[in-house]
This record gives sequence, structure tokens and C-alpha cells, in this order.
Amino acid sequence: MKLLVTGGAGFIGSNFIHYILEKYSDYRVVNLDLLTYCGNLENLKDVENDPRYKFVKGDICDVDLVNNLVKNCDAVIHFAAESHVDRSILDPGPFVRTNVLGTLALLNAARNNNNKRFHHVSTDEVFGSLGPTGYFNENTPYDPGSPYSASKAASDHFVRAYFHTYKLPITITNCSNNYGEYEFPEKLIPLFVTNLLEGKNVPLYGDGLNVRDWLYVIDHCEAIDVVLHKGKIGETYCVGGNEEKTNLEITYKILEILGFGKDKIEFVADRKGHDRRYAIDATKIKKELGWGPKYKFDSALKQTVAWYKTHEAWWQRIKSGEYLKYYEAQYGKK
Ligand code: NAD
Ligand code: TYD
Repeated sequence: MKLLVTGGAGFIGSNFIHYILEKYSDYRVVNLDLLTYCGNLENLKDVENDPRYKFVKGDICDVDLVNNLVKNCDAVIHFAAESHVDRSILDPGPFVRTNVLGTLALLNAARNNNNKRFHHVSTDEVFGSLGPTGYFNENTPYDPGSPYSASKAASDHFVRAYFHTYKLPITITNCSNNYGEYEFPEKLIPLFVTNLLEGKNVPLYGDGLNVRDWLYVIDHCEAIDVVLHKGKIGETYCVGGNEEKTNLEITYKILEILGFGKDKIEFVADRKGHDRRYAIDATKIKKELGWGPKYKFDSALKQTVAWYKTHEAWWQRIKSGEYLKYYEAQYGKK
């Protein structure tokens, strides 16, 4: 099978490419990635000479390029996106361009090339925010709250519409927050770990009591693999770790692993429109496809922190470059 993976130089995409090449010796992967600020070919250094892997630098909005690549693959696994909520609050434009128009370009290419199999990687954030109880599932109405989640919701709707209208063989996964190796250090866990390793404080938004449902990235890769091969065409699957934690709990755990005290916590102004709680009911994918998370939060978090400790050069290069310039221009020094 020949897979076209978009956004394969990012956090989840690069973990997915490693996962696929390790699991399926006869699969080939073409990775289409624009290498925006968070796309990083270092994530794929160990596979770059693998004859089953090919990298193409390009934009998912480039209709001709996308058409040629889709023509020569059996299935598209679509990760490429602008993915950070804080950036979407500062400037929603790139989120509409890549997440909506880029997805549309890929859908058209799939449609124009004999209705290629299309898997869309999406987020639980499209459902909005939960109160203290209840869970998101496949029947939860869409209610996105941030420009990021609004753009992902729009892309999900287009993917569903292409199934409904053109019978494009699609599936969608709406997954909760991931953590693990190769995550760009602007998201909560890698930002806090690397800040502490640099001797800095960690900026906790608001009261620190917002809740996310955390899933180790390899569990997410496995869920996508299962849906790609066994999922019912036209269906959506919610994917989550059943590991609800407040941001404060996560921060305490990271402080403990690294041996720092609570004095490192700096409560800062809350994110605008900050969604309070996300939590997934993953019964459908468990019952119908037999998927469940294999990794436990505490041990996988320790493993993740250890990875950042031993890969300091990886994140130092990022933090000393575009990442810092960007944040300092917007927020001043963190
Ligand atoms: P990421 O920001 O780490 O990576 C995104 C990748 O897309 C980068 O390599 C970037 O260079 C590439 N890209 C961006 N714009 C592009 C364009 N126009 N053309 C080609 N490539 C482009 O993101 P991630 O955290 O790995 O997320 C991947 C996908 O998973 C996204 O669609 C995101 O919405 C979804 N998702 C993420 C999470 C999470 O916790 N990170 C949870 C659920 C779903
Ligand atoms: P993030 O990793 O940006 O993921 P998302 O917003 O997509 O869930 O944020 C996770 C949680 O951590 C969210 O509630 C916001 C909070 N947060 C902070 O408190 N401080 C930070 O510096 C960041 C980046 C996030």
C-alpha cells in the first residue's frame, strides 16, 4: 500500500510515519509537508534513507502538486494543519487557508483520481467545551470555540460532505490532546518541560483548572491505523485516552519528575475564550474496531520527559530560532 501522508514532518505525522514503516514492511510512504515553523525534518532523520519513504516539500493548497501526488497513492492520511490555538487567536487567516482550503484541495484531488481513500485527522476541540460532567461522542453537535477549532470543524464538514455528495471513501478521527516525542515546544507539555530544563518558569493560564483528556501519541497512531484498515467508510470515530487531568495536575507531575518546586509556576492571564474541559467517550472505536489506549499517563509522561532531557539539541535549536522570535514579538519574554 502506498500512503500519502500530509504534515508528516510535524508532531503526530512524524510519529505516524515511524509507526507505519516499522509495522508494515511492504508499505510505502510519501510525506507532503510545507515545513512551516513547526515542520521539522530532523524528526524523520532515521528514515530519510529508507527506500520506502519519500519526502516532498510542498503546500497542500497547491492543486497541481496535490493532484499528482494523490494520483500515485492508494490512500491519503491527512495531518497537515495549523495546530496551535494561541496562534489562531493572534491570526486566524493561515488556519482558514491550510485547514480549510488545503483540505478542500486534497478532497478534490482524491475525488478527481477515482475517489481515493481519504482519512482525515481531526480534533475533539470541534465539539466546543464541556461543563464538569459528560463526554464528547460521535453524536455531539459541533460547537467550536477558537479560530483553530472552527477551521478544523469546517474541514470536517467538507470531508463529510464529500462522502455524502460524491461518495468519497472517507473516515474521520476526532482525537483528544496528544503528548509524546517530537512535539513542538509551544504546546503545554513540551513547553513546560523545556522551560524547566532551561531554568525558566512555566506560564499557567488562568486558574490552571482547565481539563484535557490526554493520549500518548503512539496510541493515536494505532487508532488511525485501525480506522484506516477496518473503519467503516463515511464514519467518524472519537479517540481519547480516558486520562482527564487539569493543567495544574499536569504541571505538578512534570515538576515532580524533574525535581522542581511549585515556585516555578507563574499564573498568567488566561487564554481568550479558553475552553474549560474536553473529554472523550471512545466506546464506538473500542466496541466496533477493538482499539483502546495501551499507554498509561504517568509512565508515558515520564518517558516523554526523559526524551526531552536526552534530546536537548533538538528543542534548543527550535527555541533559539523562529519559535522565540515569534513569541517574543507577540508576548515579550516568556
Ligand atoms: P503540528 O503543528 O506539529 O504539525 C503540522 C504539520 O503540518 C507541520 O509539519 C507543518 O509543516 C505541516 N503543514 C502546515 N501547513 C501546511 C501546508 N499548507 N501544506 C503542507 N504542510 C503543512 O501538528 P500536530 O500536533 O502533529 O497535529 C497534526 C494533526 O492532528 C492536525 O490536523 C491536528 O489538528 C490534529 N490533532 C492534533 C492533536 C494534538 O494534540 N496535537 C490532537 C488531535 C488532533
Ligand atoms: P495546548 O497544549 O495549547 O493544547 P489545546 O489548547 O489544543 O488543548 O494547551 C493545553 C492546555 O494548557 C490548555 O488548557 C491551555 C493550557 N496552557 C497553559 O496553561 N499555558 C501554556 O503556556 C500553554 C501553551 C497552554
